[in-house]
Amino acid sequence: MTQELTSPSPAPQAPGTGRGPGWWRDAVIYQVYVRSFADSDGDGIGDLRGARERLPYLKDLGVDAVWLTPFYASPQADGGYDVADYRAVDPLFGTLQDADELIRAAHDLGLRVIVDIVPNHTSDRHPWFQDPELARQRYLFRPGKGESGELPPNDWESVFGGPAWTRTDRGDWYLHLFAPEQPDLNWDNPEVHAEFEAIMRFWLDLGVDGFRVDVAHGMIKAPGLPDIGHGAQAQLIGAQVLPFFDQDGVHAIHRAWRRLLDGYGDARGKQVIGVAEAWAPTAERLALYVRPDELHQAFNFQFLNAPWQSDALRSVIDASLAATASVGAPTTWVLSNHDVVRHTTRLGGSLARARAATLLMLALPGSAYLYQGEELGLPEVTDLPDEVRQDPAFFRGGRATGAVGPGTDTESAPDGAAAGGQDGFRDGCRVPLPWSGELPPYGFGPGGSWLPQPADWGGLTIAAQTGDPASTLELYRAALELRRRLPGLGDGPMSWAPAPDGVLAFTRPGLLCTVNPLGHDVGLPAPGTPLLSSAPVTVDDATAQLPGDSCTWWAI
Ligand code: GLC
Repeated sequence: MTQELTSPSPAPQAPGTGRGPGWWRDAVIYQVYVRSFADSDGDGIGDLRGARERLPYLKDLGVDAVWLTPFYASPQADGGYDVADYRAVDPLFGTLQDADELIRAAHDLGLRVIVDIVPNHTSDRHPWFQDPELARQRYLFRPGKGESGELPPNDWESVFGGPAWTRTDRGDWYLHLFAPEQPDLNWDNPEVHAEFEAIMRFWLDLGVDGFRVDVAHGMIKAPGLPDIGHGAQAQLIGAQVLPFFDQDGVHAIHRAWRRLLDGYGDARGKQVIGVAEAWAPTAERLALYVRPDELHQAFNFQFLNAPWQSDALRSVIDASLAATASVGAPTTWVLSNHDVVRHTTRLGGSLARARAATLLMLALPGSAYLYQGEELGLPEVTDLPDEVRQDPAFFRGGRATGAVGPGTDTESAPDGAAAGGQDGFRDGCRVPLPWSGELPPYGFGPGGSWLPQPADWGGLTIAAQTGDPASTLELYRAALELRRRLPGLGDGPMSWAPAPDGVLAFTRPGLLCTVNPLGHDVGLPAPGTPLLSSAPVTVDDATAQLPGDSCTWWAI
């Protein structure tokens, strides 16, 4: 029986909604995890040339832009998030010319390109850190505590496990919020600011359309580097402002970068953007990163962490929209990335839920990020042997997947980003993409693959799913095509509509979206004509049966 719960109520809107002037406001951006996307030279590691060759696939999928994870010169202590030279391409991934050709090829196809920038830390192989004089000024060195300085300067723990300090052979200590190979930069030093602005200009000159700012909440530490008190750090990340994350001082950096990006873009008649990977305790604090004079987007990890349940989903959607509306920014939705358990697995190992969650995400106002392989419904790989593991957190006994974010340890957030993985570490979502064929490496490249691919992925390849209307790949293609065709589906208004208990319904211009996160069918008066559904929906005598764990877009 259909129970009318509420009258239609508008969800919070950004002032002046409608198709805003910025391309990013409703863009669908596809994350290419370069080492796992496509390998052109047979070394088993994806590279820039491989990515360039497969760009037509992304064009055909229907995305607006690609975000490339770090391909810079790096010892690869943390998958390239330990950069030794920000202006060079690591030979593993190719050459600067390959980067240039990739950016040009993407633009020729009408795809924009976003690259990562890693400003919180460098590699310990960076020339600044290698030079003891420079290192002292540009990183965070402190004397130790204890009689002979044998104890770390404070009680901060590395996100990857263990103390956030390493002692040098000179006896002092340096701070690394991540691996010891990733020393934190000293952002009190103006030379650090100048260098990152120069790095941005370097890549902008090569034609990139924006930057994904790694650990955008981390650069500024509280004065005096105060202790946080023992034992509870892992639980506190994301729950409150810590002395090393989400300090108010980071916003001055983002303001300076916005001026740089706007100035650069204005002079060339283009819009170049910054997207914050920022973990903040609340949607309101996250919204500070996207104030009109700061970055353009911030990943909305609260949505990613939401349990698959109507009240929780509705309240996280409302909170996200209200927070970004208060600053006039679009909301940026994401379900999977290279740091969290793939959402098919995270949502209870249910492809049905994953497909429904994706259709929900793509129906919400704002921009959406897709992570390579989610369009194939790939599950997390949960049986990787220890000897192939590469995630530094695995070796340091750190927190589980999503260690880089809040509320993701399996204990405190059973529905959070870590749920359902092998043991919470991040290799299981980074297994190379299956393109074609029955056997590994499934067309990933002419050689093998740096992480083993499961033997049963033959049915999940891009080739196998292409043209099959029931496949997840075709669902993504159809959704992205509709998103382009229906005016206002991106950055337009949204209103909640009446729905049965446990079910969500909301309208967008020309469309009504129903989400049934319950494990069983629910009947309701057919709200319109089904346009697209994550599972077969039936309409009989004006009554629609929504399958359990489904999402349907209705033409109204
Ligand atoms: C970001 C990246 C993650 C990396 C960390 C340290 O959160 O997404 O992969 O380990 O920063 O750079």
